[in-house]
Amino acid sequence: MTEPASAPLPVVILISGRGSNLQAIIDAVARDALAVDIRAVISNRPQAAGLQRANQAGITTAVVDHTLYADRLAFDQALQACIDRYQPGLIILAGFMRILSADFVAHYHGRMLNIHPSLLPDFPGLNTHQRVLDAGCKIHGASVHFVTADIDGGPLVVQTRVPVHAGDSADSLATRVLEQEHHLYPVAIRWFAEGRLTLDENGQALLDGAILTEPRQLPATAGEPV
Ligand code: GAR
Repeated sequence: MTEPASAPLPVVILISGRGSNLQAIIDAVARDALAVDIRAVISNRPQAAGLQRANQAGITTAVVDHTLYADRLAFDQALQACIDRYQPGLIILAGFMRILSADFVAHYHGRMLNIHPSLLPDFPGLNTHQRVLDAGCKIHGASVHFVTADIDGGPLVVQTRVPVHAGDSADSLATRVLEQEHHLYPVAIRWFAEGRLTLDENGQALLDGAILTEPRQLPATAGEPV
């Protein structure tokens, strides 16, 4: 007798803009490389191009426009209410460019991931590619981490390293890093969906039951996203 397939993990994806990481996740699900049920894509910007990507894939979308709320707390409460309608087991921040309040983050403790375009803990915050160039770094990359109240400072899960080439501009470097983000994020999400990736009661990330004292390193790839 064959085991019934377990239901895919319900997820909600938060975006603010272009949505290329969202697209990578949609594509991974479409080719059965990632078993998640994308219940909704929510944007804080009505014009986010990623909303069209979700619509084209037949995914429910919602907008919680931060400009319509008096303060961060009011926005976060509205966003939380919108997310919780879909009962996700995982919240995926994919280019979501809002700082989240401590209460919001605590509500999703251990079930919210973010991708960031640097080798954290180096270069948290904005404009990472230009800052890497200005600092003369030879290696750059991207990181996936659990979200905590510490902005870009939550427990690291996995990274991919990307070389900085002589003559790189912030744009050329961003393009090279983004290509790797599209490989990296579906892998981390798959680990979580398979129950292999968790956050323990001490706030440490565990992969296959072992504490991730260092983030896993995923080799850069030029091939098809996994
Ligand atoms: C990505 O590079 C992502 O790592 C970054 O925004 C971009 C979104 O691109 N996120 C952050 O900087 C979060 N601190 P996308 O909309 O095409 O996925």
